[in-house]
Amino acid sequence: MYRVGVIGLGAIAARYSKPEDPYPYCHVGGIRHSDTTELVAVADMSKERRDEFAEVWGPAFPDGSISYYETDTQMLESEELDIVAVCVRGPHHFAVMQNVLEADLGAIFLEKPAGCSLAETDEMARISNDRGIPIVVDYTRHWSPALLRLQDMVKDGLVGEVQSVIGYCGGGVLSFSIHSTDMICQFAGYDPSAVSASTRSSGDAPDGYEPEPAPVASTIDFASGVEGFHVGNHGKAPSFAVDVLGSEGQLRAGFYLQPTLRDADGVVVDNATLGLPGNVGPFKIAYEQITARLDGGPPPHCSGGDWVAVNEIGFATIESGITGARVDLPCANRDRMIFANG
Ligand SMILES: NC(=O)c1ccc[n+]([C@@H]2O[C@H](COP(=O)([O-])OP(=O)(O)OC[C@H]3O[C@@H](n4cnc5c(N)ncnc54)[C@H](O)[C@@H]3O)[C@@H](O)[C@H]2O)c1
Repeated sequence: MYRVGVIGLGAIAARYSKPEDPYPYCHVGGIRHSDTTELVAVADMSKERRDEFAEVWGPAFPDGSISYYETDTQMLESEELDIVAVCVRGPHHFAVMQNVLEADLGAIFLEKPAGCSLAETDEMARISNDRGIPIVVDYTRHWSPALLRLQDMVKDGLVGEVQSVIGYCGGGVLSFSIHSTDMICQFAGYDPSAVSASTRSSGDAPDGYEPEPAPVASTIDFASGVEGFHVGNHGKAPSFAVDVLGSEGQLRAGFYLQPTLRDADGVVVDNATLGLPGNVGPFKIAYEQITARLDGGPPPHCSGGDWVAVNEIGFATIESGITGARVDLPCANRDRMIFANG
């Protein structure tokens, strides 16, 4: 079993789900359900959060199996960990990641948004590469078992040659709608080359930061020739879903909906023919991909160049929205500090 430590005991670490949930949408639930991980340590600067965690989740783990820490550094110095989940908010990622990347780890599971500037994420990626410690960024909805299967099927020609992928999601470009950016790439590929976007400003930002805008709409060019479209104002179209338009058909798929596949004549194909897997919590799948890598398997999804590409699209969307210009990737301005507080 691989030993996992979690930094930050908020919503995505532990509060979105309870131990009894069959498909928990939180890190500790996924770690607990995974056959290859055990939770051995947690850190949160808030005593209230540590106490709440001990009360809600403590009974779900063997007595005394979890050590509690106030800071990330105390946990990293005291524990031998294979995986660390970084679950603090975006503006704290860079400081925490600098500590985590110094530790002797197998992998890091980092919450989105990866960082608040490209300069920050460049530095994280550099150290990760130098030290051989993969970073996996948590675009959680990616790990829906049905989406993973459909991703493979689309690669194998389910809709013929993919021509366009349309994703639907509003909210902060880096903190929220980035889930849909990843989903567009999940079906279009992870080779974006340019972004043109219109965004609207939302919220304030403390000194040193610019506010995080939300997407109105953007186009993402991919080197493969596929075109991505991100729709921020999507009316009744479902969030965290994509339409994959191909030469031989079209697929609507998403985290919260049953897929709809249409053939070349527009006729709906029976989902029973797709052989889709049953539900499994996305965190369980993600942790099992990470541990498979530690056993010598393939890189987990949303690691290496994949999270870098998604993150690059996010910052280019902001850059294009502010400047009105089409932005070639990699984005030239790497210093814009965005208050990505999701
Ligand atoms: N993948 C998803 O679907 C999803 C959903 C929600 C949030 N998130 C992401 O998860 C991250 C956390 O968001 P949240 O809503 O869970 O936050 P939250 O505010 O609920 O919890 C953050 C916790 O981190 C603790 N903390 C902050 N700095 C710390 C430090 N240096 N050391 C130890 N503890 C520290 C705080 O005390 C708090 O308990 C964000 O990056 C957010 O974007 C992802």
